[in-house]
Amino acid sequence: MRAAPWTPARFRHYFDGAIASGGAFAVIERATGRSWSSIAPLPYTLRVTDLNPQREQMSDASMIRTLDAQARAIWPQESELVRRYGFSPDIRILDAGCGTGECSARLAEMFPRAEIMAVDILDHHLALARERHGRFAPRLRFEHQSIFELPAADASYDLTVCRHVIHSVPHAERVLRELARVTRPGGRLHLIPEDYGMLHFPTGGAHDVRAFWHEATTGFGEATSTDLFVGRNSYGHLADLGLEDITVDYVIVDSLRVPRETFAAILEAWRDGYVESIAERSRFSGAEVTGTFDQMIASIRDPRRYSVWMVPVVAARIPARR
Ligand SMILES: C[S@@+](CC[C@H](N)C(=O)[O-])C[C@H]1O[C@@H](n2cnc3c(N)ncnc32)[C@H](O)[C@@H]1O
Repeated sequence: MRAAPWTPARFRHYFDGAIASGGAFAVIERATGRSWSSIAPLPYTLRVTDLNPQREQMSDASMIRTLDAQARAIWPQESELVRRYGFSPDIRILDAGCGTGECSARLAEMFPRAEIMAVDILDHHLALARERHGRFAPRLRFEHQSIFELPAADASYDLTVCRHVIHSVPHAERVLRELARVTRPGGRLHLIPEDYGMLHFPTGGAHDVRAFWHEATTGFGEATSTDLFVGRNSYGHLADLGLEDITVDYVIVDSLRVPRETFAAILEAWRDGYVESIAERSRFSGAEVTGTFDQMIASIRDPRRYSVWMVPVVAARIPARR
């Protein structure tokens, strides 16, 4: 695989990636005894925060539980959508924002001779991924790379996968352009762009769950310059990039298709990782956020109730000529 040339922009993005990862922040803060924001010049602090506003939540121990439960809930249905692309077992795959490698390993099983590059900017996610999925090395590699500027040359991959990432970063369309660049003509982008308007729970109860998902996410998205409804907007982003054969499908995580305990584990991990930050960025107090999550979790566990998370799976083909 040919590497992209080193440009000033590429250096800058590597530096952004290193700083934006929890590890680099912690090292600098420990060494100086000062907070990163008190050390960095203001424009730089803003830019770093800009690019990875959910760094803290992604670094929380609860995120490891989230990624495990989400993969168990989603992959059984999602794998059928991946199979329909008809790729051979020996393709080149990029897993962009791979986290702890839950999906990277499942892709390695599905494509037994594939070369898979799995990238992330959180070093402790990468370390855990290497530890858990080392049996697939060296054809599955985990590397520190930012999806805002990948080192790969144009058209390096047949299949580029990006799951549960673009809702958490600003400028999602910039990331999608970069993912399309590194995917070969005729290759596919396969995305799970989250959308918090696609979770539905029984009405009634002490907390208004519908208002919560609408209002808390709007405030959180505005405060972090991210689009928490990017699931429905991804079709437009891909159409604007001139991609072909755009499809929007849904994995249905609900009380009938997914074990209730797996579904509940997702909401529990979200609650444990996000209560404080949602309360800081919305009209809901910490106790209200916790209460609302607890109500949703109780509905999921109640065999007489139905709850659903419609998870968009958006895919597109890279045209022959761009
Ligand atoms: C919710 S996790 C999803 C992990 C994995 N894709 C999965 O489906 O299990 C989002 C991941 O995106 C990573 N991420 C955020 N910004 C990134 C960037 N600029 N470059 C690479 N990874 C990034 C986070 O560090 C985190 O590990």
